[in-house]
Amino acid sequence: MRRSLVVGNWKMNGTRSSAESLAKGILSGLGEDVADIAICVPYVFLNEIGQIVQNTRLGLGAQNVADKPSGAYTGEISAGMLKEFGCKYALVGHSERRTYYGDTDESVAARYSQAQEQGIIPVLCIGETLEEREKDKTFEVITTQLDAVLTKAGVNSLDNAVIAYEPVWAIGTGRTATDEQAQEVHQFIRQYIADKDKAVAEKIQILYGGSAKPDNAKGLFAMPDIDGGLIGGASLDAESFLKIYHSV
Ligand code: PGA
Repeated sequence: MRRSLVVGNWKMNGTRSSAESLAKGILSGLGEDVADIAICVPYVFLNEIGQIVQNTRLGLGAQNVADKPSGAYTGEISAGMLKEFGCKYALVGHSERRTYYGDTDESVAARYSQAQEQGIIPVLCIGETLEEREKDKTFEVITTQLDAVLTKAGVNSLDNAVIAYEPVWAIGTGRTATDEQAQEVHQFIRQYIADKDKAVAEKIQILYGGSAKPDNAKGLFAMPDIDGGLIGGASLDAESFLKIYHSV
């Protein structure tokens, strides 16, 4: 049985003090160890939140990572830097990065490899837009996004990675994929990987993201190929995040 994983993506929210109370609130309500759990916080909070979660089972993550190891890349943060601050995970290819900041399939693959070189687990985000879904292009988009990484890093690299399927039309919109819609794509992703390596496909955690909330998490997580969630809005409130965590 695969162990599930629930990851909070705080995006660009919070203040030093609200971030600290949120992390402490999550820690204090963790309860039973039902699955892996982590929070991806803004870079500037990594130090303080890192100290709060140190030696606990609440993992620390970043929301992106540079595609180069070091050098003259103003404004970027390297995987080596994230490692120093205790990051276990880094999101790569989040749709907001792809849409607003020009992250391409190629740069996402480079970010993914940079994270792995430092022993950080990349959470590779993939997903189609509404227009692509309506044109029946969902599987094509997913395949292209996956191939960019598989061509560069190889299928075995997925042994140390997590995939998050996030339909762009469901992110922050309150419009969640139905359990069946999400399962269909998760199953496709797992099968696509299985065609290359069965063992890797069986092991990899594939998370669902996009308006996951306490009231719909249970149904989504009950699907056979959904191994947890990447949670945006609902991760900004300790109680909702923990309710989602305890739905796995
Ligand atoms: P949401 O965001 O839960 O607010 O839809 C999910 C994500 O973008 O990771």
